Amino acid sequence: MQQRDQWGSRLGFILAAAGSAIGLGNIWRYPYVVYANGGGAFLIPYFFALITAGIPILLLEFGIGRFARGSAPLSLRRLSRRFEWLGWWQVLICFVITTYYVAIVAWSVSYFFYAFDLSWGENTEAFLYGSHLGLPEQALTEQGWQFGGMQWKVLLPMLAVWAGIYYVLYLGVQRGIERMSKWFIPLLLVMMIAFVIRAVTLPGAVGGLNHLFTPDFAKILPPLLGGNNPEWHSVWLAAYGQIFFSLSIAFAIMITYSSYMDRGQEVNNSGIIMAFSNSGFEYLAAIGVFAAIGFMAQATGVSVEEAARAGVGLAFVVFPQIINAFPAFNGLFGALFFLSLVIAGFSSLISIMEVIVAAFMDKFNMKRTTAVTRVVGVCALVSLLYATGSGVIILDIVDHFINSFGIVLSGLVEVLLFGWFFRLSVLREENNAVSDYSIGRWWDWMIKGVTPLVLLYMSFRNFELEFI
Ligand code: PHE
Ligand code: NA
Repeated sequence: MQQRDQWGSRLGFILAAAGSAIGLGNIWRYPYVVYANGGGAFLIPYFFALITAGIPILLLEFGIGRFARGSAPLSLRRLSRRFEWLGWWQVLICFVITTYYVAIVAWSVSYFFYAFDLSWGENTEAFLYGSHLGLPEQALTEQGWQFGGMQWKVLLPMLAVWAGIYYVLYLGVQRGIERMSKWFIPLLLVMMIAFVIRAVTLPGAVGGLNHLFTPDFAKILPPLLGGNNPEWHSVWLAAYGQIFFSLSIAFAIMITYSSYMDRGQEVNNSGIIMAFSNSGFEYLAAIGVFAAIGFMAQATGVSVEEAARAGVGLAFVVFPQIINAFPAFNGLFGALFFLSLVIAGFSSLISIMEVIVAAFMDKFNMKRTTAVTRVVGVCALVSLLYATGSGVIILDIVDHFINSFGIVLSGLVEVLLFGWFFRLSVLREENNAVSDYSIGRWWDWMIKGVTPLVLLYMSFRNFELEFI
């Protein structure tokens, strides 16, 4: 048996976990999810989901990894032979996500360079799909399936990102991942604060912020309680979806990362600190993004509604427009924004790749270098699919299915297995024994009852939306 890698310190572990959580989801996904789901009022379902599912599952995964000290499949197997397959299912999800998440990080790298001379021009949408992604024109209009060729503007940055991933994972847990997180998280915070300060002092920022903060309670309440939104439950589901994605839970990531903890290391407080840093970061990013959108609304007449609705195109279509409209230093502001995306996305990618690497090291007793070379090689090869002209179409479809089914189902199975086929209280007591404060029995009931019910309902709704 080789000596197992370990974090150097508690802070190192918290920063690495935060590096995984804080990602593209915080910077471009969260702002438009909030906007589409009741603005300021979304905080209620959001915190409800954080407390009933986010933090309980996070602490469950920390407990599993710390106690069993293995990659996800091995940890689950050590707790019960019948659980190992869930670990492999999560490894598979990680593999699928990695291959397209890397494409989005690569786009951000390109956009970082485009920002300096505003190479995206006036029509940023045409630039994204045509020049940057190389999507054949008919594909947009007729939703055809023709393949554009390899797109070097995506391919080259992608290979660079893979090289970076290879390097960090090759260095290992303490010298690679931990050291990277200690640099990246503070750097990201400083960049984000600079971004927010600049954004909120722009003319028109208040208009955008009003949209973010004005609570539309009618949108989140059931009609019986005075709501006016027949789809009110979709707001609550969106809150759970955001929390899962954002905290990187149900992907085996937190199991893997916590397996590198020292046995005596604090868990409960670390988990809660990490969860709230992630939420704080989300909110900070939302303030910056909405202030910038408000500025653009005033400068160009595009309404805030329209800009925020752009959803996924927010980062690569709307933001370049905002940067175009900037009074001065466009390039600098643009570069700041896209560099934040790169850094946030990169550390999340590292975490998701480490899940796969660790699983193979444990299963086949491989050396780290062998596992890293093989896993990075295969993932890089598959990711080339997304560097072709039709990549973005495939990406949309895969992302949609992973979010609607993969993650929710794996979270559901995880809480059911641990809630009902395992002595949950053992894990809680193990966690409590080393922690600054104890978690009470309420936690058991969240894992056994509340979370499975919500996730079950989510799965049904998603199934219905898709197939009925
Ligand atoms: N938590 C990351 C984010 O907010 C997303 C992510 C999910 C990253 C799963 C890695 C693995 O962007
Ligand atoms: Na996040």
